[in-house]
Amino acid sequence: MPIIREGQLDIISRSAEQTMRLGARLGTLLESGDVICLSGDMGAGKTVFAGGIGKGWGAVPGLTSPTFSLVHVHRRSQDKLKLYHLDCYRLSNVLDAETVGLDDVLSGASVAIFEWPEHIEEALPQERLWIEFRILDNSQRNIVFDGVGARYKSLIETYRVQAFGR
Ligand SMILES: Nc1ncnc2c1ncn2[C@@H]1O[C@H](COP(=O)(O)OP(=O)(O)OP(=O)(O)O)[C@@H](O)[C@H]1O
Ligand SMILES: [Mg+2]
Repeated sequence: MPIIREGQLDIISRSAEQTMRLGARLGTLLESGDVICLSGDMGAGKTVFAGGIGKGWGAVPGLTSPTFSLVHVHRRSQDKLKLYHLDCYRLSNVLDAETVGLDDVLSGASVAIFEWPEHIEEALPQERLWIEFRILDNSQRNIVFDGVGARYKSLIETYRVQAFGR
């Protein structure tokens, strides 16, 4: 059962498949302009969750880890919308961030998903959905959603009702 706080959602996933499904539910709700930050240690499940988001949103091709290319761009078949998936692990400041074309990524015309967002935090918009992943044991992850700004608070509310029925 989720822990309920204003603008927050605190849940436990018991498997990679469950994390993928949780991501997919969020993916169905995303709109262009949304900024999703996936934070947490290596192996915590950020890419698994991002893969779920891609599925729910309808990304073609499916999401894989952009660790080496830093940024992947996806589209979906029903419209011309774009989804960017970035891995900022190798970036260490805002200047680095500019080399990946952050202006386009954050233009408001696409969905943007960031792994290791803390590496370029100053370059990110203030308003965003921040999701923190914590490893509990081999198969369990604590996932905490924190919405900054009205859009993301209402997104969390909609998500909560869809995923948990309340
Ligand atoms: N409940 C769970 N949720 C997500 N992944 C899980 C869970 N239990 C086990 N796993 C495993 O943990 C790993 C998560 O890997 P993933 O690539 O998503 O991590 P990451 O946070 O993106 O790491 P990195 O910082 O290296 O990119 C996978 O091997 C997955 O199978
Ligand atoms: Mg990853």
